[in-house]
Amino acid sequence: MALPQIPSFRLDGKRALVTGASSGIGLGCAAGCAQAGAEVFAMARSADKLETLATEARAAGLNITAVPLDVTDIDALKLWLDGQPAFDVVVNSAGIARHGPALDARPDDFDAVVDVNLKSAYFLASYTAQKMIDEQIEGSIITISSQMAHVGGIERSVYCATKSAVEGFTKAMAIEWGPHKVRINTICPTFIRTALTEATFNQPERIKWIEDKIKLGRVGEVEDIMGAVVFMASDAASLITGTSLLVDGGWTAG
Ligand SMILES: NC(=O)c1ccc[n+]([C@@H]2O[C@H](COP(=O)([O-])OP(=O)(O)OC[C@H]3O[C@@H](n4cnc5c(N)ncnc54)[C@H](OP(=O)(O)O)[C@@H]3O)[C@@H](O)[C@H]2O)c1
Repeated sequence: MALPQIPSFRLDGKRALVTGASSGIGLGCAAGCAQAGAEVFAMARSADKLETLATEARAAGLNITAVPLDVTDIDALKLWLDGQPAFDVVVNSAGIARHGPALDARPDDFDAVVDVNLKSAYFLASYTAQKMIDEQIEGSIITISSQMAHVGGIERSVYCATKSAVEGFTKAMAIEWGPHKVRINTICPTFIRTALTEATFNQPERIKWIEDKIKLGRVGEVEDIMGAVVFMASDAASLITGTSLLVDGGWTAG
């Protein structure tokens, strides 16, 4: 009897675009994809941080190229993508938060968070999928959403709104792009120790809230997301689309 062969978890020969790669989860995803064998294009605004990442990757024998670009400049994003062949893997980790009571949110806060977390995420997925379809690439598009797409969070109404909306377009796009073998999913982390969460981790009452909710009894580290992203990007996940992978330590279990 021939044993079934496990599909590859590797990304050798694949080209991966990772946004938000200058910091935190995106930086981890860029490193993870490169360690899994992909040629990685690391996008964010901070050119100096991206160059440091590319240099350190080179020293480790990995292939990461810096792409300094503001993802809210949709025209510039499209122009850059137009000059590239289709990517096999797209990981969108660019994101911001302006946490505060729902009653205090101002229209400019709302627009700023929606611009990065939702509008740019939408058009990045749309433009990269179009290329995958045109070039018949069976690609994987992954947005770093949040557990806050699935539950409410105190002082996070605008952030929750953007992440829930990402889940919505992911499902709708999966229906349209499935016939082209283009997969689109989200990864939904719990609290991960990064620059984004530094302020929250400095508030003792918030730490208690977080520790009470995470059943596994610890907050997340960037490394906790790296394996999930590489899995979702790889052939091992080739029948997974239109869904979210919760990496939440059991937060949303109840
Ligand atoms: N940390 C958590 O607990 C957690 C939990 C759930 C979900 N998430 C999500 O995970 C993603 C990454 O968060 P993080 O914790 O890694 O935060 P982070 O360390 O603050 O990193 C955010 C990244 O987004 C980039 N970025 C922000 N605005 C951008 C823009 N206009 N154009 C291009 N890049 C931009 C930043 O780079 P530049 O400033 O250089 O542009 C940076 O690389 C976000 O979508 C966040 O919502 C985080």
